[in-house]
Amino acid sequence: MSDSDPSPVMAPVIFSRATSSVRPRDTEVVDVDFLVIGSGLAGIYSALQATRHGECLLITKARLQVSNSAWAQGGIAAALDADDDPAQHVSDTLRAGRGLCKGSAVEVLAREGPSRIEEMLELGVPFVLDEEGRPVLGLEGGHGRRRIVHADGGATGQAVVKALLPRLAAAPGLRVWEGARAAALLVDGSACRGALVEREGGWSRVRARATILATGGACGLYARTTNPPTATGDGIALAYLAGAMVADMEFVQFHPTAFALGRPAFLLSEALRGEGAELWNTAGERFMPRYDAEGELAPRDVVSRAVTAEMAATGADHVQLRLDRVPPAALAHFSQLFDTLRSRGFDPQKQPIPVAPAAHFLMGGVKVDLDGRTSLPGLLACGEVACTGVHGANRLASNSLLECLVFGYRAAVTAADRSPSGAALPDAVPVPYLGPEDRHALGEQMFTDAGIVRDGGRLQSLDAYLDTLPASMERTVAGLITAGARARTESRGAHFRADYPREDDGLRCHFVACAGRPLQAEVWE
Ligand code: SIN
Repeated sequence: MSDSDPSPVMAPVIFSRATSSVRPRDTEVVDVDFLVIGSGLAGIYSALQATRHGECLLITKARLQVSNSAWAQGGIAAALDADDDPAQHVSDTLRAGRGLCKGSAVEVLAREGPSRIEEMLELGVPFVLDEEGRPVLGLEGGHGRRRIVHADGGATGQAVVKALLPRLAAAPGLRVWEGARAAALLVDGSACRGALVEREGGWSRVRARATILATGGACGLYARTTNPPTATGDGIALAYLAGAMVADMEFVQFHPTAFALGRPAFLLSEALRGEGAELWNTAGERFMPRYDAEGELAPRDVVSRAVTAEMAATGADHVQLRLDRVPPAALAHFSQLFDTLRSRGFDPQKQPIPVAPAAHFLMGGVKVDLDGRTSLPGLLACGEVACTGVHGANRLASNSLLECLVFGYRAAVTAADRSPSGAALPDAVPVPYLGPEDRHALGEQMFTDAGIVRDGGRLQSLDAYLDTLPASMERTVAGLITAGARARTESRGAHFRADYPREDDGLRCHFVACAGRPLQAEVWE
């Protein structure tokens, strides 16, 4: 262990609550049964389920259509084929997670996944079907067989969200506030009672018998990302500052093939490689077979590091994704992706596509049980903001939308079980965002120092930089990522440390952060 690395279990994570903002006065009090924060697939779907059991308010800081889910490509993985079996989906997911998946969560995901997909079909999601009406299944890295349903020329996330939004609008007892951000959770010592919400320049204190966090991930903190800029990990910051446990924050997945021109980095779905697309360096060599027997379909962390190494070796800021070997019939399934490329002035039929890695998905988040309960009573979480342990150290392709459906459903059922408390609403101090300059600088620093290849020295300098930033959502989440990455003195899954390049059996544990306490190492079975 180098001098710069603290003991893995003792890395302190202590952040002050925000103090720079004024405590808001004249807040109106709004009473609902369920408050859902976030409008990605986990938020929309859990709100739709919750509204069967009571009045629900869904808030989103942007517009309903803006979310990581709506940007998600690839598709949704589930053992739907007659020859497939959830047990095989379980084993592929466990393999990707490099010894850190929580087995019971993976079982739930794989066994309940097919029913959730059937339900999406009934709700009108236009999955691509064959002549007999069965979903056409695609292949992605890490899956032992074709298992991915997809829709709308590769824009699967958008297709699912589009199908569910009219249901949301029609659901009785469901209200939506757009442009409304949760600025703090209302905690009365023993439980979460709701949230302080900023909207149209005013403040509301929303009292709910259950609050469901569905704010998505935090990869928007990275300068180069496939996520919308709204993905700043707010739910993680809010939960952590309110005293809830947060886990596995060092595990950030980088997607190897994001369009290299422009930001945010538009994703070139892994499903293209599933259909035969190849990665070549700018010196004219197909390089993946040199790195891994699975070639272009090796795990994402392996491909991302290989792409990074090839970019360094050739001095280019990208490698090329070549579609020459993809059969024309398969290319037809990606029409939306190609339209988007053309709208950015690039014709994928005329030249290889320049791609480079980008921050894509956070495996860690607010620690929850299989039913979405956080360590703070009254607070639930589902989707990317949550850490069920289902992804371990690396998420398997197309398990993320599935996670939203399976665990979003469970969180809503759990929320319905909570009875109203009638407790008085506590006060809260809003957590601010960084200004644009700090936000930009943080993004660059995160990509360099807490990126695809990390080391103790760079993580330490990132920590020192974070100390110079004002208390904020972004600083809190970046601090949690950095603390986890410093504590994990090994390389496992998406977390790669140049100074500790191997897996260490002694670190088959999860680092759990709780404000004001040292990181705890836990073993989850
Ligand atoms: C992709 O299509 O490559 C992304 C889907 C995912 O992240 O699982």
